[in-house]
Amino acid sequence: MILLTGGGGFLGQHMARCLAERGEKVLIMQRRAISCPPLLKDYWDSHIVQEVGTVQDLPFLLGLVKKHGVDSIVHGAFASTDLAGGPYTVADNSLHHLVDVQVNGSVNIFEAARLHGLRRVTFISSGSNYDALPGQPEDWHEDAYLPTVTFAPISNTKKACEQIALLYAKTYGMSFVSLRVGLVYGPASSRGSDSFYAMVAGALAGQRTELPKVPANLSFPMVYAKDVGVATALVHQAAQPRHYIYNLMNTRTSSMQEFADAVKAHLPQAQISLGPAMPAARPIHDVPMERYREEFGFEPCDLQRGVGAFIEWCRSGRY
Ligand SMILES: NC(=O)c1ccc[n+]([C@@H]2O[C@H](COP(=O)([O-])OP(=O)(O)OC[C@H]3O[C@@H](n4cnc5c(N)ncnc54)[C@H](OP(=O)(O)O)[C@@H]3O)[C@@H](O)[C@H]2O)c1
Repeated sequence: MILLTGGGGFLGQHMARCLAERGEKVLIMQRRAISCPPLLKDYWDSHIVQEVGTVQDLPFLLGLVKKHGVDSIVHGAFASTDLAGGPYTVADNSLHHLVDVQVNGSVNIFEAARLHGLRRVTFISSGSNYDALPGQPEDWHEDAYLPTVTFAPISNTKKACEQIALLYAKTYGMSFVSLRVGLVYGPASSRGSDSFYAMVAGALAGQRTELPKVPANLSFPMVYAKDVGVATALVHQAAQPRHYIYNLMNTRTSSMQEFADAVKAHLPQAQISLGPAMPAARPIHDVPMERYREEFGFEPCDLQRGVGAFIEWCRSGRY
């Protein structure tokens, strides 16, 4: 049994499904119970079960491992609600909780894995670890020296967790892998703040989508959600990954305008208007994905195919 923390969330559902499709039994765990979402309906109860709880509670985690015979952990829980209107600001009075969930919660996961001698912990990290790195995205290779002084809630806590996990790996021989995931779009991302979902859903509904606060030239390393699920499953099931850290994103950054154009290429009736270009936006650039591709023989699909698959899911439910 694989314990998947945050399994009821956006990415968690993709990881749960892709692990289940590969024959794994998955125990999803988050703070609130979810009812079976469309993505998981073929595997609910047969391959996927859930428990409710928090990664902040080590005795609970130890009990969970014992009760379900957990043999490895994919750790994706994230206190998204502690962020304020975007990834770079913490909501009022939420920093202690954010750090408690992200850092102490991760330490609890590593400790539970150590105490029970689990096979592996796969940690869902973030491409935002590279945000403040000087140079272009082509320099975002996994062994890059990341800047010492940064002020971003996601990357600061993700970097802290990676460092602590490496200590666990060295001290106790724990098998640890971290996936630095790009900005994800795809099914199950129905949160109101998701511009990707808004563009696709608006186009399918024949409605104009206005996103005046999203600069057209804002660019990210993007990745289709199903590919994150597949890639996580491949890493997690691998006998012996060669590295601790892997990038998991498209081999090229994309702008929001390119995403809108991809939607229009599939749905010519789409009417999407984005905000004015911002000065000094990150240029569109290549991103290193060789490490993952060469070892696992898999690469996330490009934006055109990813947007096509997203639309297909919305139309027909084909995953
Ligand atoms: N989405 C992206 O573009 C992206 C990009 C790179 C990396 N990531 C990483 O991928 C992971 C999943 O992100 P997401 O976008 O899927 O976020 P999400 O939809 O907000 O899901 C987060 C999940 O974590 C659970 N959670 C929160 N606090 C918890 C706690 N104390 N104990 C146990 N579970 C808890 C949530 O459950 P409740 O709802 O019950 O609180 C939810 O199921 C995160 O680690 C995130 O940093 C995401």
